[in-house]
Amino acid sequence: MLERILPPQVAAAERFAGDEPAGGPGETLFPAEQALVARAVDRRRREFTSGRACARAALAGLGLPPVPILQGERGAPQWPAGVAGSITHCDGYRAAAAARTSDLVSLGVDAEPDQPLPAGVLDMISTAAERAWLAELAGPAGPATPAALPVCWDRLLFSAKEAVYKAWFPLARCWLDFGQADLTIGPHHEAGPGRAAITGTFDARLLVPGPPVNGRPLQLLRGRWLAARGLIVTAVLVPASPAAVTAEPARH
Ligand SMILES: CC(C)(COP(=O)(O)OP(=O)(O)OC[C@H]1O[C@@H](n2cnc3c(N)ncnc32)[C@H](O)[C@@H]1OP(=O)(O)O)[C@@H](O)C(=O)NCCC(=O)NCCS
Repeated sequence: MLERILPPQVAAAERFAGDEPAGGPGETLFPAEQALVARAVDRRRREFTSGRACARAALAGLGLPPVPILQGERGAPQWPAGVAGSITHCDGYRAAAAARTSDLVSLGVDAEPDQPLPAGVLDMISTAAERAWLAELAGPAGPATPAALPVCWDRLLFSAKEAVYKAWFPLARCWLDFGQADLTIGPHHEAGPGRAAITGTFDARLLVPGPPVNGRPLQLLRGRWLAARGLIVTAVLVPASPAAVTAEPARH
């Protein structure tokens, strides 16, 4: 489902619960990667292994050979030179996306269950403007039940912000707080038969000075989202130049 919100310059791979089990033939780690999770609990080792398998599948999609993807500063994955990429995992889902830096200087992907955020989390991850927007969506009658919503908007906001951070970090190499980017979620539409999938766009306006991209400070990051199969996936792309990637994803 991630591929559906990505332009053709980005290669993506994903695995759902029930796909090839972690540790299967397509899921092996390089020794240097094994060392990173040698003392981790089983669940973490599995998600790390599947995430690396997806990352190598994404590299293969770019025509690149399998290589170790180690962890850099603050846990950011270290992609081979000339590649920008991102990895995500949540219950029942793992995915990775990669592109050549001649197309994208950075990208971030995130996946979350399409369920309301736990109580109290929204206040910690949102700006006042975002909360006002969420309240407007809920209408005067208050929040609808999750089943009546096209997507759990609060969780979508959270996922989009995580994707923003994953795209921001390799460029800025410093922390970005949840309150330091203001998100606007654009119009959404159905992307499959019936309500099987809903998709839309979002913009993240940075409230702190951004790192230079194309000779100018980055101020706005653009993303897309898709909700399907009980999951929300988000992707933020930072093009190498205004003409480097098409605005709309090629595959629907
Ligand atoms: C790092 C973070 C974004 C990961 O998101 P998550 O939903 O917890 O977990 P996910 O499974 O989706 O993503 C984990 C992957 O993110 C990647 N990641 C971790 N740190 C990263 C960083 N600094 N930069 C880019 N990618 C990073 C890794 O590939 C990691 O998987 P791996 O350890 O198996 O390699 C999150 O834990 C975090 O610290 N968030 C706070 C910062 C933030 O989101 N600010 C909002 C700004 S608006």
